[in-house]
Amino acid sequence: MSDTPEEFQKRVEEAARNPENMGEMTDADSIGTVGSANCGDMLRVWVKYKEDAGKRIIDKATFQSFGCETAIAAASLAMEMIRGKTPEEAMTLSGEEMAADLGPLPPTKVHCTALVENALRDALSGGDQSPAQPPTEQSNSNLMSDITKSSRSSGVKLVFLDEDQPAG
Ligand code: FES
Repeated sequence: MSDTPEEFQKRVEEAARNPENMGEMTDADSIGTVGSANCGDMLRVWVKYKEDAGKRIIDKATFQSFGCETAIAAASLAMEMIRGKTPEEAMTLSGEEMAADLGPLPPTKVHCTALVENALRDALSGGDQSPAQPPTEQSNSNLMSDITKSSRSSGVKLVFLDEDQPAG
C-alpha cells in the first residue's frame, strides 16, 4: 500500500489531536524520562501497576512530551497498547510497533518512536520509583523546567539518547 507524506501527517495529527493518557500521574509507581541529544525533545512516562491473577500488569500509563507531534502521537498510541501487559511483555515492543497505527514512518521520524520506547523502558525497568513533584499544571511547556527541578531535587534519571539520525 502506498503512503504519502500527507497521509502520514494526517494520521499523526489525528492521534496527537486529543492524546489520551497525557499528563502527570501523581500516584505512579515508576517514572521514566529520556531526552534526545539529537533534536532536544524530551518525553516522560508515568506507569501504575496492579495485580491481576498473581501477575503484575500495567494498569495505566501516562506521558508528557516536550517534543514533536509524532512523538506525542506515538506516545499516545503506546500508552494504550501497553495497558494490561506485564512489564516484560511491554518491553518486547519496539517504538515502531507501538506506533504501527501511524503507518510507515519517514526515516526522519523513526527516532521519535525510539524516544517513546526508551522512556517506557526506563520506567518499566525501574526508572524513578518515587513521584517527585506535587501536581503541576499539565502542559507540555512545563516539562523542561519540571525535569530540571526533578533531576536536582529527587534524582529523576534523565538519559539523553545518542542518535545518528537527523531531526525531521
Ligand atoms: Fe525529535 Fe520527533 S522526537 S523530532
